[in-house]
Amino acid sequence: MDDTGARGPQTRVFAKVWDIPTRATHWLIALLIPLSWWAAKSDHLPWHRLSGYTILGLLVFRLIWGFAGSPTAQFRQFLAGPRGIAAYLRGASPARVGHNPLGGWSVFAMLSVLATQVGLGLFSIDEDSLEPGPLSNFVSFDTGRAIAHLHHRLFWVLVALIALHLTAIAAYGWRKKNLVRPMITGSAEVEPGVTPPPLAPLWRALPAAFVAAAAAWVVAHGFKLV
Ligand code: HEM
Ligand code: HEM
Repeated sequence: MDDTGARGPQTRVFAKVWDIPTRATHWLIALLIPLSWWAAKSDHLPWHRLSGYTILGLLVFRLIWGFAGSPTAQFRQFLAGPRGIAAYLRGASPARVGHNPLGGWSVFAMLSVLATQVGLGLFSIDEDSLEPGPLSNFVSFDTGRAIAHLHHRLFWVLVALIALHLTAIAAYGWRKKNLVRPMITGSAEVEPGVTPPPLAPLWRALPAAFVAAAAAWVVAHGFKLV
């Protein structure tokens, strides 16, 4: 700003882009995936399951937030159709805040594979059937073992997607665009002329969190409510 308070052409404008629930969900998931892996590898299956149920709750929350959350968290805002993607690749898409069309689909892929991973885990039966998933009584032992194999394999698909995610973020960093700070603080630099839409009110996360926790609890107890 100059002495008169007017903004010069070089002024950098920052705005809140990521809301707290989206950021908290992101960092909790990023923490719990390595924890899940470590717990499974070191035979701490109760911890593995607990971490998995928490991820399940976070995924249900993220699903609800994808419809009821801030514009940058809404699926319809960041899942572009073929024309949107083509325009983005040609460099012809309008300036925006939030995920770009390619990033949006990579987010969707990570969340879907993670949800499938949790879904398979729920039906998985371990080798000696001592610590099976809570829904494994709906399948035979052999099916539960086959599902556990898929659960092992899909983990590496998830790892590949996360590696791609981190590579893309590092590539942006290389080109002097820091995406990580906004995911921590919520604030990002916005291009001139772009007015970010307001974030969703925080209270809205409460009923969403309640529904998500209840859903995870019911599933973790194998749908047995008493
Ligand atoms: C287990 C590991 C991780 C998973 C599964 C994961 C997954 C995701 C997902 C699903 C989103 C979309 C957020 C949303 O709209 O809800 C996202 C965004 C993001 N993540 Fe991660 N993440 C992981 C680790 C990390 C790490 C370690 C970093 C930082 C070094 C990071 C940095 C970011 C950033 C900067 C964004 C925003 C990207 C953008 O501006 O479009 N993530 N991540
Ligand atoms: C509610 C959620 C989950 C349940 C109930 C669950 C259940 C299980 C069970 C019963 C096993 C043992 C299978 C066997 O011994 O063959 C297992 C293994 C494994 N799980 Fe999960 N899981 C869940 C979520 C997750 C998540 C979120 C991840 C990672 C993101 C994950 C990654 C793994 C891996 C990598 C193994 C294999 C470890 C090894 O190679 O020994 N699981 N899980």
